[in-house]
Amino acid sequence: MIWKRKTRDMTEDGGAPGSGVPGSGFDAFETDVGSPLPTESELDAGEAARLSGRSAADWPMAALEPGPILPRFIASASDEIEGDLSSELARRRLLLRDALGASQPVTARETFAGRRDAMSTLIKAVEEQRVHVVVYGERGIGKTSLAHVFAETAREARYHVIYASCGTAANFGDMFRSVLARIPRIYHASVLPNSPEGEKAGSLEPMLPEGPYGARELAEVLAGLVGTRVLVILDEYDRVVDSNFRREVAELIKNLSDRAARVQLVITGVALNLDELIGYAPSIRRNIAGLPMSPLAPAEVRELLRMGERAAEIRYDKDSVALITRMAGGSPYLVRLLGHQAGLNALGNRRDDVNYSDTRTAVEKVIADWQASLPRRIQANLVREEARTHWPLLVAAARAGSTADGWFTVDDVVTELGGNATPIGVERDLKLFVNVIDLLERREGHGDPQFRFSYPGVSALLTMAAAMARQEA
Ligand SMILES: Nc1ncnc2c1ncn2[C@@H]1O[C@H](COP(=O)(O)OP(=O)(O)O)[C@@H](O)[C@H]1O
Ligand SMILES: [Mg+2]
Repeated sequence: MIWKRKTRDMTEDGGAPGSGVPGSGFDAFETDVGSPLPTESELDAGEAARLSGRSAADWPMAALEPGPILPRFIASASDEIEGDLSSELARRRLLLRDALGASQPVTARETFAGRRDAMSTLIKAVEEQRVHVVVYGERGIGKTSLAHVFAETAREARYHVIYASCGTAANFGDMFRSVLARIPRIYHASVLPNSPEGEKAGSLEPMLPEGPYGARELAEVLAGLVGTRVLVILDEYDRVVDSNFRREVAELIKNLSDRAARVQLVITGVALNLDELIGYAPSIRRNIAGLPMSPLAPAEVRELLRMGERAAEIRYDKDSVALITRMAGGSPYLVRLLGHQAGLNALGNRRDDVNYSDTRTAVEKVIADWQASLPRRIQANLVREEARTHWPLLVAAARAGSTADGWFTVDDVVTELGGNATPIGVERDLKLFVNVIDLLERREGHGDPQFRFSYPGVSALLTMAAAMARQEA
């Protein structure tokens, strides 16, 4: 996932001058969605070096010392700012990083912006409707953060919450063995309070059959829960590859619901809709509430930026807020990335006010870094003649695919192109990027064929670059 890997990739694969890859992503992507890209020779490959080589801004205190010195850490690993570099500026940079750094999900309410509707829907589904919930939406939209903050809130209401992140290797038996190992045995009806068994620490795990077991046996144990309610959060459910896992979870939902067990599942994952995540399972539909995660509203973007403002004692001016809101397209991840970088630019210039120029520079840097983080093959494909010729099509495809799982149809692209294109022509052009130039992949479903960008970061890069181009125009 490019967003999460970004920082590492950036250092491994920085778009070096002379690599034939445009240096500044934004400049490379031209001034209007309708215009083709400039030729490779027009691209300023040195720009990336300039943009990423802000050593003075990155290490403002170091820059003041005489002679060339290597950069140092600002703070010790225990978060104490080192004595001789202990400056107001360094402190604020760190505070800004803590407030707006984008590499981790939010885990506490104080740093969680907006999302009141989603939170309220989630709580009502769990508390009033007593159903299982499926939270779905695109990468970086804030599913894991919502899950963590919801867990904190539920724990305050004395729910026993177990958070589990699913990996590609997730296996039903192992996963739920470890879940049961985290539920104290005293919550089982078979254990009398004050009995020696109840006094003893222990979990529900030994109550499972030894060896393989299924949803039915698991529900049997869980149906015995008393004195608490258990919430099991299964995060990143889309990553599970084992179809048996999904079948068993659907079966578990059915069994738990039939037995009115005091256990509810909260499943989160990248998907366009419920069926895609949990499979087509009409028998459990009435036991599930779906919660689609929508893009952040402008007021929520403002709220998030305000956290950076408070922490680092800076202020984003109106134009900066507008630009960040526009470029981020409701992604909290992008709001943080842009807000953080723009704030650093202002602090680097020893200003408290973050102005349009700080933010614009931040956008350029984010786009350039983003582009440099793509595999070279993809970067090279993006500057090929065919990509330049079909630039509006690619941007329209990126917009069409900007929801949840990234799949889109020919019709979606036609709609984005605003009626200037025919479905036949669009399909032919899309196929070019599947078959000849490896930028898209294609799948046949029950309905129309679907396409998506074969590398996840590409569509966000294209939409950002196009939005910036429009902005400049
Ligand atoms: N409500 C929010 N307030 C502040 N930051 C958020 C919020 N939601 C998400 N983020 C930030 O956005 C990024 C992506 O969030 P994450 O929860 O990991 O998304 P997902 O699980 O959907 O991929 C993280 O850096 C996280 O800190
Ligand atoms: Mg997540």
